[in-house]
Amino acid sequence: MLSRPFEPGPELTAALTRAQGNAGAYATLSGQYRSAAGTGTVFLSAAEKQAYLAARFPATFAAISMALSHLLDAYQGSDWTSLLDAGCGPATASFAASGHLPGLQTIVLADADQSWFAIAKDLANACGNGAIADANAVAGPLSMVRAQADLVVAAYVLNESASKEQDTLLDTLWNAAGQAILIVEPGTPHGFATIRRVRDRLITYGAVIASPCPHQAPCPLRDPDWCHFSVRLNRSAAHRRAKGAKLAYEDEKFSFVAALRNPLDLKSYRARIIKRPVKHGGHVRLDLCTEGGAGPRIIARSQGPHYRQARDAEWGDIWPPHP
Ligand SMILES: C[S@@+](CC[C@H](N)C(=O)[O-])C[C@H]1O[C@@H](n2cnc3c(N)ncnc32)[C@H](O)[C@@H]1O
Repeated sequence: MLSRPFEPGPELTAALTRAQGNAGAYATLSGQYRSAAGTGTVFLSAAEKQAYLAARFPATFAAISMALSHLLDAYQGSDWTSLLDAGCGPATASFAASGHLPGLQTIVLADADQSWFAIAKDLANACGNGAIADANAVAGPLSMVRAQADLVVAAYVLNESASKEQDTLLDTLWNAAGQAILIVEPGTPHGFATIRRVRDRLITYGAVIASPCPHQAPCPLRDPDWCHFSVRLNRSAAHRRAKGAKLAYEDEKFSFVAALRNPLDLKSYRARIIKRPVKHGGHVRLDLCTEGGAGPRIIARSQGPHYRQARDAEWGDIWPPHP
């Protein structure tokens, strides 16, 4: 079970609340993202950026954070000191990575919409994150980025481009990745289609898939199934207001793939739980992805310690758990 932070700390939360102003208009924003999917970069107005900070930042932060946790759980050699945050928006991935990589010193923020940089740096200054406050900011299309970093993260970015353009972007991002790359997309069939395509392409480059897949074989999932995960986050009052929501939490669904140049220090694991475990009186049903395929596994009470592990297991965990 993962135990790293999936929510911004108190200083960043306070800075976000100030930057949000009286954020509203999230419905417009989400409609805009849906209708623009695959058609190119979306430029948001100042008011829409405030709505993004209120309603999307906490969720994308949580998803990136959890994906990073999965990567770092599988890979023990992550003494990474540099990050390229590609399609950074308000530097969500940089803030999330700062919580996981204490040695992070150098950050490059890259985005077509350069008005995000000042927002990201104001947030960083307000919460004392020197690496983001001093980050090198590169404005323009990601296909032109020439930076290099140990870790490259592109979160909620590729879906904005058409498939052919995604391939070119991925070529650039993989060339920029000294050691590792993480791509995160919405946990929808469309988002997963992007992730599957990215995964296939990374394997042709010779990359080693570190997470979430326990193998390098072709993805065994067939339509209408799609591989995605879920992270629960608390909603602030501003977040609830921006979304017109009543619940004090939300579940962000996301799909991701993380890959490495060098598989040394990558722990091997047999399977990953790719759906919410179903717990019955005398047995637990785990949906597993393995090298041999994907499908359900029933763990019965008679299996003793295995059953107890299965009762504690969560969607996204590896199976069986590391000792
Ligand atoms: C949905 S936002 C995601 C922001 C941030 N990564 C997050 O997870 O919260 C997508 C960002 O990627 C940028 N973007 C998308 N495609 C791009 C491209 N081809 N070149 C440069 N920036 C791009 C957009 O300007 C936008 O700021």
